[in-house]
Amino acid sequence: MNQEHVDFLRWLVPGLQDVPMSSPYWTDQAERYLALTTQDRDVYPVIDHTRGRGVWMYDLEGNQYLDMTSGVAVRALGFRPEGIHEFEERLGDVAEELPGHDFDNIPEILLAQRLTQITPGDFDKHVFFTTSGARAVETAVKSAIDLTGRTRFVAFRPAFHGRTGYALALTASKAIQKEGFPQALAVTRTPYAYPYRSPVGSDPDATAAYALQQLSDAIADEGRDIAAIVVESLAGEGGMIVPPDKFLRGLRAIANDLGALLVADEVQAGLGRTGTWWAIEQAGVVPDLICTAKSLGGGIPMGATMGRAPMFTTGSRHSETFSAEPRAALLALFTLKQIEERNLMQNAADVGTHMMQALHERLADCDQVGEVRGRGFMMGVEFVEDRQSKRAAPDVRNAVVKNCVFKQRLWVLGAGRSTIRFLPALTTSEEEAMEAVERFVRAVGEETRSLAGRTQAAIAS
Ligand SMILES: Cc1ncc(COP(=O)(O)O)c(C=O)c1O
Repeated sequence: MNQEHVDFLRWLVPGLQDVPMSSPYWTDQAERYLALTTQDRDVYPVIDHTRGRGVWMYDLEGNQYLDMTSGVAVRALGFRPEGIHEFEERLGDVAEELPGHDFDNIPEILLAQRLTQITPGDFDKHVFFTTSGARAVETAVKSAIDLTGRTRFVAFRPAFHGRTGYALALTASKAIQKEGFPQALAVTRTPYAYPYRSPVGSDPDATAAYALQQLSDAIADEGRDIAAIVVESLAGEGGMIVPPDKFLRGLRAIANDLGALLVADEVQAGLGRTGTWWAIEQAGVVPDLICTAKSLGGGIPMGATMGRAPMFTTGSRHSETFSAEPRAALLALFTLKQIEERNLMQNAADVGTHMMQALHERLADCDQVGEVRGRGFMMGVEFVEDRQSKRAAPDVRNAVVKNCVFKQRLWVLGAGRSTIRFLPALTTSEEEAMEAVERFVRAVGEETRSLAGRTQAAIAS
């Protein structure tokens, strides 16, 4: 941050004197003024919002980091993507008003057209715009209730669909997110198809059959009055779990049999990250509704739900003041154009595959790495006490995250109980991906060895 940036903040904020370039100072201020955080303030320093390019970002002290999170899949094009300044200048000229959802505007309509074109299904579709992923899920839930007249849903464990009303009722990721909050929906919940932790072994077909049988049994016991089955096409928050294609196909068949809708939550996995616009396409499944957000607005809060038309029985069944206002819609169109013109889905598929192969090879001998898995630029490394027991090792995971951030300057995030996730920008190059692997392997080497050393020392004493 330079003097000009500091002067700008002083101009904006009455009475602001000092703007110290100190992470601890601003972390204290955050602690004092922000109601909540999900971020571990002992691990992550404060980012300098005025710097960064592509996958490279900086903290207030000027340390440079290789970012493998893209703001939890938000910065699909990385920091300051090519052409963004020119685009923003033109944007300032063409979009002056910020009308709410009640008033149509051309950018919003064009974005809706574009999204229906890239969404699977040879049928008429509608789009509802929101300002977050959870609201995109709320929209799908309300649409399903309105269209089917039913109120019971199917969701899985683990599952993350957001933290507001209906979305929270569908979520089952960490108890702290749910405990004590009244659950707004009746949910029939069964296990997600999770090959690594499947009780019938890690064979994908057997895992899919087991998970589908669990669901069929639950429906037989609890009732067929299901409005929709809501599923993450690749479970993000719950641990970067890639379900077998047969699982997703089986859900489509069960939904058809029940007369229920199938909702694909692709808030994290969607918009090219796994190598196709939507992860569910790779299983050859056409859902009735798809939820998206995160990457859509190019950093501006935006979400959308695409569904079979009509999504609601009549007008005014649902609404949101801030939806695709013109600037946001134009920014989203810019993001989609960049993904397509720069062939970024192919980049995610190719570089993601190489990165995962490299992680596999380099971590093959580490007994505390249970599994490396993923698709495209959505990958996870799950840590265990040892490969035999497969017991989750959150302490090892946490130590590796800390080592990555503090020592290797590699910005990574946890997911699930003991997984580290990689969600790099779709623009990440082969060299950057391999550099991330190098840094990560170094952190794993240091922490797994040091933990083993510590355990031995404890036994010896
Ligand atoms: C799959 C999925 N659905 C929904 C959400 C909620 O999105 P938001 O935080 O924008 O409400 C998330 C957020 O991580 C997500 O990963």
